[in-house]
Amino acid sequence: MAVLRFPAKARTIAAEPEIRSALAALGIEYERWDLARVPADAPAEAVLAAYAPEIDDLKRRGGYVTADVIDVNPDTPGLDAMLARFDKEHTHQEDEVRFILAGRGIFFLHLGEQVVSVEVGPGDMLRVPRATTHWFTLCEDRRIRAIRWFQQTAGWTPYYTGTGVDREFQPICFGPVWLGSRVDSTIGSNLSA
Ligand SMILES: [Fe+2]
Repeated sequence: MAVLRFPAKARTIAAEPEIRSALAALGIEYERWDLARVPADAPAEAVLAAYAPEIDDLKRRGGYVTADVIDVNPDTPGLDAMLARFDKEHTHQEDEVRFILAGRGIFFLHLGEQVVSVEVGPGDMLRVPRATTHWFTLCEDRRIRAIRWFQQTAGWTPYYTGTGVDREFQPICFGPVWLGSRVDSTIGSNLSA
């Protein structure tokens, strides 16, 4: 479940219908998709096959030509350099479309005069239109597995704005603690220890 925040208004939304409608009003598409279709650690080919209907539907709607599965964790070689490419405000010449299978991260979206943040986690699909100014960072466990869609096959290039606005916002993740699941998992691990 995502967490949508409006930092300037100190407003937080963590309910799916409200997040979807608030983001739709800002031109950002958000959906919750079923996670039970395939194990979170299934091979990429199995994930792409399991979500083929949704992948093909988005391809039709967004003109995407391909989709893949990105999978990073703290042991991924070059992770810091990879994250440093995207944690400064930038745009792309194509949409940034993600369906999160595992892990969590935060998209900061600079929309007009305001910055909103969308913390995404397993089951969240987010579609950020091309040319939207934004930046992204992982949550503290530095883990994310997601399906990505692409309109071009020529690569994924960030165009930096250089405004420095990204330095004004703390990339603090709320989700697991805020929503209580981490408490449950801590209890579970204690019991099994
Ligand atoms: Fe980006």
